[in-house]
Amino acid sequence: MAESNPELTATYLADPAEVHRVLLLYSGGLDTSVMLKWIQDEYGAEVVALTVNLGQPGEDYDVVRGKALQLGAIECHVVDAREEFARAYVLPAIKANAIYGLGYPLFTALGRPLIAKLAVEYARRTGCDTIAHGCTGKGNDQVRIETTVATLGPELKVVAPVREWRMGREEEVAYAREHGIPVKGGTESAPYSIDDNLWGRSSEGRWIEDLDHAPEPDVFQLVTRPEEAPDEPQLVTVEFEHGVPVALDGERLGLVELLERAADIGARHGVGIVDHIEDRIVGLKVRDIYEIPAAAIVLPAHQELEKLVGTIHQNQFKPALDQKWAYLVYAGLWWEPLRTDLDAYMDVVNAQVTGTIGLKLYRGSARVVTRESPNAIYDGPLASFSESGGLFAQAASPGFIELWSLQSRMAWRVRHRDEG
Ligand code: ARG
Repeated sequence: MAESNPELTATYLADPAEVHRVLLLYSGGLDTSVMLKWIQDEYGAEVVALTVNLGQPGEDYDVVRGKALQLGAIECHVVDAREEFARAYVLPAIKANAIYGLGYPLFTALGRPLIAKLAVEYARRTGCDTIAHGCTGKGNDQVRIETTVATLGPELKVVAPVREWRMGREEEVAYAREHGIPVKGGTESAPYSIDDNLWGRSSEGRWIEDLDHAPEPDVFQLVTRPEEAPDEPQLVTVEFEHGVPVALDGERLGLVELLERAADIGARHGVGIVDHIEDRIVGLKVRDIYEIPAAAIVLPAHQELEKLVGTIHQNQFKPALDQKWAYLVYAGLWWEPLRTDLDAYMDVVNAQVTGTIGLKLYRGSARVVTRESPNAIYDGPLASFSESGGLFAQAASPGFIELWSLQSRMAWRVRHRDEG
């Protein structure tokens, strides 16, 4: 092994002198476009660009590819990873009812390990020694990406130019202008920091950082504001088989299409706006505005169905595991074996999660209104034993009550024995 550079604070960081060919995770935005140029100039390295399609709406990948090549990338790969994202990342999250901190369905946290896994694969395939990403030094995404690279590609190094360069927005724009990189908007109006995929969209920055500033309408690019949503409610049904959403309004759909359709329906009705204060892994608290129209329909439907088919004991136990799952994923530990251990439990429980949930969507709310499952643990009006007490004799209840309350009654007596 070569002597490591003592300036480097982690063994997986690249020594600039050793960087020859870089796999750049490229979005086509300002930061990664500036990086594309900067890496060539500062490191004298070649750049292979990789853009991953996780279902971010309205992206033109031909434009992104053209831009990468125009800025000097020797190759640009665009990977449509929507299917893998939906199956292998979003689906386990649905089975785990995954929500972090009361409102965040983890779409970014789920996307990062897949993006970084693809970066490792493409770096190997194209002979790169280093992976570059555009995350800052303040967020969670650097943790998720670098953890993944260090886990799956230990021979690869990482550079995070945005974390290192001391360019502010104005210098970045100046650098871009100087190098012929197109800049949207003016210098003064920094855009929101956006991340999105088929499971949701987040906005950070600008006035969002002022906690007493209510959301400006222009932040909502996906979900109709509830006050502008139709005045007619819409009923939507979601059918599940073994925890997998398989049909919407009775129409069977592949998972990607189902999630995209659910997002459209929810967005139309103003469903899935979350104004969220979040505890980051890296200490800070942050405010995010989330638009999660698909998750706001599919998650409550799944949770409701799971509750219907589970016993009281399972239903009391699983939320603690769900929360643990969500935190591991939020915190960048997708590859931690405890996550897959938990998935095994999620799968066993979800084997019973078959049935259909109906929700009523109306001006920002999605409310469960109907439930139906062959596996429901429910002695409804149609069950033969419902009137008589069927599975147990009602006459047995007083005996149960006497034993059930025994310790509590004794304790009460002990605590009140001096009261005459
Ligand atoms: N706060 C969320 C998270 O940590 C979303 C981050 C979105 N990333 C971004 N670059 N805007 O997962």
